[in-house]
Amino acid sequence: MTVVYFDSPMSDDDRRRKLFGGDLFVYSPTRHSLELVAFAREMAEAAFAPHFPPDAQHHLAGRAYVDVLAGLKPAFINHPRSKELVAGMLADLGADLAQTYFDVPRLRTMTSEYLNAGLTLQFESHRDTWFSAPMSQINFWMPVYDVEEANVMAFHPPYFADGVRNSSRDYNYGEWVAHGRTAAAQQIDMETRRQPEAEEEIRREPDIRVITPPGGILIFSGAQLHTTVPNTSGKTRFSIDFRAVNRRDVEERVGAANVDSQCTGTTLGDFLRATDLTQLPQELIASYDTVPA
Ligand SMILES: [Fe+2]
Repeated sequence: MTVVYFDSPMSDDDRRRKLFGGDLFVYSPTRHSLELVAFAREMAEAAFAPHFPPDAQHHLAGRAYVDVLAGLKPAFINHPRSKELVAGMLADLGADLAQTYFDVPRLRTMTSEYLNAGLTLQFESHRDTWFSAPMSQINFWMPVYDVEEANVMAFHPPYFADGVRNSSRDYNYGEWVAHGRTAAAQQIDMETRRQPEAEEEIRREPDIRVITPPGGILIFSGAQLHTTVPNTSGKTRFSIDFRAVNRRDVEERVGAANVDSQCTGTTLGDFLRATDLTQLPQELIASYDTVPA
């Protein structure tokens, strides 16, 4: 059974327990999620002007399109305002900011039947925990413009408790940061970087897709198997996502069950406390860094 909680008044502690059990949470837009979406729109609309961002793919050639994204995405990710608004959103959602650490929010784009590599890469079915995320990671996702069933994410709940053969054994986050990530802007048409992927056929149907208005928030465990639906909507999907952990969960090794992740290393060094943007204690991060790169 997978429960989808809508605008639940549940406490953050109880919500994380449910998320670690495979349930999903959906919230109506909050004050800060709307501000974050407005901020992303402002930046995207300036970057793609005079084109409306969801339609810009029909007006720009591949290289020019990727060049706009290469400027826009890091500008959004690294902007201090983005982090402030994420902290605001976490407060809106009842998280204890002194215990909550988040990774910078990503602005993602999924073009419709156009350019599938590097900065526009379409992710195959995966769990974030195949990419050195801690089992206590919680993911937050929201659309920036209207979405529909053909350009959102799909969840495959039967796999929450069931392992999938996958290549995460070859992945180490530290190594990826050192060698793989910088190559993303160089990849336009073909994806050649190695990423963890399923090594068996995934039964993708039936799946669960959540559609909210812009700024509506979907929360799920980093261990959920999910897929970016091939976008056939004719519009580029713009979304914002970020990950968070609660420090007590990290310290106590609480989280979803690990059914099939074999990656090494950890992303925990990327998480910043919502109150003051400091990192988790180095010894705690090191204790998760099983095979330092
Ligand atoms: Fe993901």
